[in-house]
Amino acid sequence: MKETLEILVEKALRALSIEMESISFEHPDEMSHGDYSTNIALVLAKKLAKNPRDIANQIVVEIQENPFPKEISKVEVAGAGFINFYLSQKYFADGVKDILKQGKKFGQSKIGAKKKVLVEYSSPNIAKPFTVGHLRSTVIGDAVANISLACGYKVIRDNHLGDWGTQFGKVIVAIKKWGDESMIEKSKNPVKDLVDLYVKFHDEAEKDATLSEEAREWFLKLEKGDKEAKRIWKKCIDWSMLEFEKIYKRLGVHFDTTLGESFFKDKTGAVYEELEAKKLMRESEGARVVFFEDEKLPPLIVKKTNDTTIYAARDLAADLYRKEKYGAGLKIINEVGSEQTLYFRQIYEVEKMLGWFAEGERVHVMHGLYRFEDGKMSTRKGNVIWLEDILDEAVKRAGEVNPECADIVGIGAIKFNDLRRNSKQDIVFKWEDVLNLTGDSGPYIQYSAVRSRSVLTKAEEEGVKESLKVVPEKDFGVERLIGRFPEVVERACGEYAPHYIATYLIELSAAFNGFYGREKIVDATDEFSPYKVALSHAVSIVLENGLTLLGIQVPSKM
Ligand code: ARG
Repeated sequence: MKETLEILVEKALRALSIEMESISFEHPDEMSHGDYSTNIALVLAKKLAKNPRDIANQIVVEIQENPFPKEISKVEVAGAGFINFYLSQKYFADGVKDILKQGKKFGQSKIGAKKKVLVEYSSPNIAKPFTVGHLRSTVIGDAVANISLACGYKVIRDNHLGDWGTQFGKVIVAIKKWGDESMIEKSKNPVKDLVDLYVKFHDEAEKDATLSEEAREWFLKLEKGDKEAKRIWKKCIDWSMLEFEKIYKRLGVHFDTTLGESFFKDKTGAVYEELEAKKLMRESEGARVVFFEDEKLPPLIVKKTNDTTIYAARDLAADLYRKEKYGAGLKIINEVGSEQTLYFRQIYEVEKMLGWFAEGERVHVMHGLYRFEDGKMSTRKGNVIWLEDILDEAVKRAGEVNPECADIVGIGAIKFNDLRRNSKQDIVFKWEDVLNLTGDSGPYIQYSAVRSRSVLTKAEEEGVKESLKVVPEKDFGVERLIGRFPEVVERACGEYAPHYIATYLIELSAAFNGFYGREKIVDATDEFSPYKVALSHAVSIVLENGLTLLGIQVPSKM
């Protein structure tokens, strides 16, 4: 469409003998201002030192004097000199036809050109709780992966488990001193037991300094492959994974690969060699450190004096491995909390210095904190909010209104509450907002999707068949929105920002509900009814496709 408009404006400029400029088109903020708007007159006015409205008028008159392309119904000057374009009902009807034809595929694109992208998300830590931070990572990362896939990328979903680190020394000591493996084994939630032990370790270590030393020794043993240390560590993984798998099942997410940090610890050698060979690593206060040009970032420690590996080295090894496994041109996205922003900038910079990745091939999609305003929800144990409790509560509350689809609505609500805003932002969690049926919530979108679908059932019952043969002169306020879905998806993909889709769905739901409230859609005596039914059908497709990209299901009834 933009091309058609560009040709139109270019032709007018030529006729007016005005020298060409590149012309950009935007959607006006307000729907009533048309479908596209250009500021070309304002740009030209500056250059020619003329009044922008005069120039805009000239252009519009020139356009109006010639026959319009059938896609356009109206052109007018607005505000300080903007030119607004209104698309025609014929154009919208063709758009609806296309949506009905494409169905589930509507919104997909090929911008990814089959390039590979690895989306790393969730990445909880073994023997530690699955936190709300991990929930955010899981929900946002999964949406980013879905969107990339829809845009033609080859997607690898990667769960980078935190299964290595000094905490295992502490956990091993705690299990040996105060734990009972067979009890943990039988426990309903072994991770809770492990966390209790971890908390106990820290309490005791404050009184007894030798405990920390003992923990360090156990971790060193683990790094060296000690049998007993490894046995307990493996148990911790099994116990934790049982818990994590439960959560993934409830959230409906899956991964193509789940490799922990431990997998990469033996692969740090190649990283050190390359850093050494390229003279990027220096000795500093007994550690090996990478310094950055002009001190633009603080130095990054990649190796400590003792023989244990560290987080940064394992991350570098992971990326080297991925690069080799998936080939050149691979893009890697890390969905990790914003508290690790500096760290990832350092890692990306080191990888750039190593020549591993080109500009834009390393991306940090970050998320802010989750804060609970509702004191009641702070089920705190060892200062932890258990994710399971949040999911349970969401499902329980959703069930009070919708017993039949409590899971779909409850989980959908939690996900949408996260995805509807820029992920960098913190979330203040309020149940009223999350499960609100009328506000900007998941249930509201689900409800709108169910409602738009219900129109089709009703039409069938009353013998009204959807058709685009008879098109009314005026639009119903949804036409101009539904056609924009593919652009929204592309934008969300390009900016790694699912919230563009979520806010778009809110807007579309509001427009549809307005249409639904104002119009009698199914009416055998109304010549426009078949058009209205087709329109509702198209809305239901877009709402469902949008929710699917966000990893949210549509209930069959609501
Ligand atoms: N396990 C880490 C945590 O819970 C997140 C891992 C992020 N990914 C990475 N490649 N370092 O904080």
